Amino acid sequence: MPQTDSPTPPDLRRHAPATLRNRDSILAVLVRALPGHGLVLEVASGSGEHAAFFAPCLTPRRWQPSDADSDARASIAAYAAAAACPTLMPPIALDANAGTWPIAAADAVVCINMIHIAPWSAAQGLIAGAATILPTGGLLYLYGPFTRGGRHTAPSNQTFDAGLRARDPAWGVRDLDDVARLAASHGLALDETIEMPANNLSVLFRRS
Ligand SMILES: C[S@@+](CC[C@H](N)C(=O)[O-])C[C@H]1O[C@@H](n2cnc3c(N)ncnc32)[C@H](O)[C@@H]1O
Repeated sequence: MPQTDSPTPPDLRRHAPATLRNRDSILAVLVRALPGHGLVLEVASGSGEHAAFFAPCLTPRRWQPSDADSDARASIAAYAAAAACPTLMPPIALDANAGTWPIAAADAVVCINMIHIAPWSAAQGLIAGAATILPTGGLLYLYGPFTRGGRHTAPSNQTFDAGLRARDPAWGVRDLDDVARLAASHGLALDETIEMPANNLSVLFRRS
């Protein structure tokens, strides 16, 4: 009997080019801002490339990726399997909007490039959920473009914002003051704002 080759399994890994451009500058902030150990929950991990890059660099912290989208979770799982990093967990299904999150506690919550590519309710859910699971002093880290005082910080951000709103009127670049006010109403105090390459911000909140 001739041997038949088993079919090659599909490669479920997605590629988000921006992750390669922003990961080093984000990692530099995380290294100094995260607690030295414990569990980091990443909300909206997307392709999973950040998780696979950050987790080995941030050992012994454990990195828990998540996403609301099942195809994204398949990609994250494929990157996590390839990384074979003992501190990188398999992804969990987490919709920031859900009233109860599938994880009861984390030492830090990281969310990169989500709140402008989702309705405002996702930012509300993210902040409410993070406030529920973080300990006192725990970090909520946001990364992405923001307006400041209602103004774009660069023409490229304004163009990007218009493109987002054309795709979905509920999406759009958020104003830092609105996000900080929302966070404060949940006991998350704005601790630090760091200008990042390509007109993005790292925004650090601490649970008071
Ligand atoms: C632009 S991608 C960013 C992914 C990744 N953090 C990165 O920087 O490459 C936005 C991600 O947010 C996820 N997302 C959108 N709404 C969400 C929600 N309500 N809860 C959790 N994830 C959500 C999408 O599935 C998508 O993977």
